[in-house]
Amino acid sequence: MLNYNTYVGARKATYNSVFRLKMVKTQLPFYGYKSHKKYIMRIFLFLIASFLFFETNAQQKGLSALYEDHFMIGTIYHGEQLGNNTKNRDQKKEEEIIEKEFNAITAENCMKPMHIIGKKGEYNFEESDKFVEFAIEKGLTIVGHTLIWKNSAPDWFFKDEKGNKVSRPVLIKRMKEYIETVVSRYKGKIKYWDVVNEAVDVFKNEYGEKYAKLKSTPWYDIIGPDYIEIAYRAAHKADPECKLLYNDYNMYQKEKIDFIVDMVKNLGAKGVSIHGIGSQGHMFMKHPKLHQVDYWLKKCADAKITLHITEMDISVLPNAWKHKGASVEDRYDLADKYNPYSKTVPKKVLQKQAKRYKDMFSLFLKYSYNIERVTFWGVWDGNSWRNYLPMIGRTDYPLLFDRDFKKKPAYYALKNLVIEKE
Ligand code: GLA
Repeated sequence: MLNYNTYVGARKATYNSVFRLKMVKTQLPFYGYKSHKKYIMRIFLFLIASFLFFETNAQQKGLSALYEDHFMIGTIYHGEQLGNNTKNRDQKKEEEIIEKEFNAITAENCMKPMHIIGKKGEYNFEESDKFVEFAIEKGLTIVGHTLIWKNSAPDWFFKDEKGNKVSRPVLIKRMKEYIETVVSRYKGKIKYWDVVNEAVDVFKNEYGEKYAKLKSTPWYDIIGPDYIEIAYRAAHKADPECKLLYNDYNMYQKEKIDFIVDMVKNLGAKGVSIHGIGSQGHMFMKHPKLHQVDYWLKKCADAKITLHITEMDISVLPNAWKHKGASVEDRYDLADKYNPYSKTVPKKVLQKQAKRYKDMFSLFLKYSYNIERVTFWGVWDGNSWRNYLPMIGRTDYPLLFDRDFKKKPAYYALKNLVIEKE
């Protein structure tokens, strides 16, 4: 006899088997194509819409948002004053770009000792305070640059009242006081400090072989090689949470990067707080070679020393550094030869530069597991230091935004590179 339960059970069984059969059939390719046409169309439209949404979303993102899974993208803060002692008329425009495109910021000049303590005994934090306020307001990660650098320390630092060189204990005391005052002022606000800048150079021995060592600077000459250790210890004491970097240029030179990696490792082994290497990254169109850059990035990655590319730009002009010490007259004579794009720059050159940037960033992405930040040394071409150093009055095009604040081919190359990688 059929009772209620067997009746319901039988219906369920029939329903399930019919439904399952349908399911199986509908999963067959092209089964019921006509009746499902509507649904297929809808799915198709949905996929297109999602694709367009993500595409537009990616198109609208700034560079730092596009690279956020890899490393920070930083820039510099010029403030009111530019490095060539002229007033920065374009601060507002720069700041608009900074807000949209970057997530880290370094003080170009306002935190260098000659600006903070140019006059003996008088600290001036006006510009550096503004810089820190600006960065906090815009939510940018702050990099302090730089505490100990021979090119930015005022002369009085190394001299006594009579103009003679101070002793080791006096200089150590001054250095510690300076670091303590500046670092603790921004304690908890500055995430990274470039503590020592440019202490190492490459030399040649009597057989013409290259080697690297600490170079002669007033710090080195008066205190000795341990000035580096003393500086890091003082910075760490002033802000134990801050990440302390050693910053230098031309790290594509094998001898230099090998030396610096050993130096950082040795300091770390002695218990000195030094958290990474800052590699400046001022480059030219053909120099350094990609394999040299690869060596330098790999060297840091293999040593597990976090790397920051701290001052990235690619000059399109001929390298004029050997004329650094040239007289004023020489500079004018040389200017034409070394200033080929004074009126305008050919598109072809900017496209080559874009390719060069892309090649560099491809390497940065390759080692991104060890790279925390890539910072451009400037926002747009017009305010770049490359226009006045080493030769005054040149017109260079080293950055991602042009003199009308428009994105250059290099910008799009970096944007597409990371989008394609996703
Ligand atoms: C070095 C310094 C920077 C800047 C550039 C050029 O790279 O670290 O602060 O002064 O030189 O101006």
